[in-house]
Amino acid sequence: MTSTEQKITKAVFPVAGLGTRFLPATKAIPKEMIPIIDKPLIQYAVEEALEAGITELIFVTSKGKVAITNHFDYMPELEEALSLKGKTKELEAVRNCTLPAGQMMSTRQSKALGLGHAIWCAKEFVGNEPFAVLLPDDLFFNTPNCLKQLVDRYFEVGGNIAAVTDVERKDTNRYGILKIKKDDGTLVSASDLIEKPAPESAPSNVAILGRYILSPEIFSALDKKVVGSGGEIQLTDALTATMDKTPFTGVRFIGEHFDCGSMEGWLKANIYMGLELPETRDLITSYIEEKGFRK
Ligand code: G1P
Repeated sequence: MTSTEQKITKAVFPVAGLGTRFLPATKAIPKEMIPIIDKPLIQYAVEEALEAGITELIFVTSKGKVAITNHFDYMPELEEALSLKGKTKELEAVRNCTLPAGQMMSTRQSKALGLGHAIWCAKEFVGNEPFAVLLPDDLFFNTPNCLKQLVDRYFEVGGNIAAVTDVERKDTNRYGILKIKKDDGTLVSASDLIEKPAPESAPSNVAILGRYILSPEIFSALDKKVVGSGGEIQLTDALTATMDKTPFTGVRFIGEHFDCGSMEGWLKANIYMGLELPETRDLITSYIEEKGFRK
């Protein structure tokens, strides 16, 4: 079986970060547990993965992050209390975020050494097969969802792939940026990747977003623990180091994207979701009207 015929069933969720951009909210709770309207950020990423065919979910956590795995665990006391009170809607919401036994794995990244290191920590769970990576800070909306768009393309292109989008030049220092070899409007192949370049030295404005499908060969580069941009072990550097044998292709994502690692993105995502959901849409529009909010 060639790698491109192999199904993608494993996904890694790097969730060990401190969430310093959201202090004090994240002093005692993981940033991934901050809600967008009614669901924590991590739940959106997990639902996206399940919809895209993932059956094994690997969380790379750290100290103080147990709420994340608890969130997807079976809670018999809570279910019983809701059931006794006849709270069927709430019971359904609780059951909807319970993962079946054996689908959830967790490993710890004991030191914050970077995204590349976080993924390396999942090496034993991943084994020798292509796998997905979802960074929950990046929130996407569309049908098919972002990971599914990647999975569909993966069967054509193989190698290492990631969702990409065109960002404003002033923002290149927030992303991994592609040096473009070929661009057909959807698929962008890269000859180099630079982690967070300054706008004046960025080779393009095509940026990597937090969804990847990686070949297991990535671990041979991550094993070397090369320290890169920001003093961290970067996934971008490992992707570049393996490019000769495993080509890298960006897949332009179609749909809505929010960087919920920033206050601006988080706020916009709440407004977007609030306007999408029938139960909150009228509430938001009539409140804005009532208050007559203007710039
Ligand atoms: C990480 C990656 C970066 C990518 C970004 C997408 O950066 O290192 O290449 O563009 O995710 O969100 P982080 O945002 O974790 O600093």
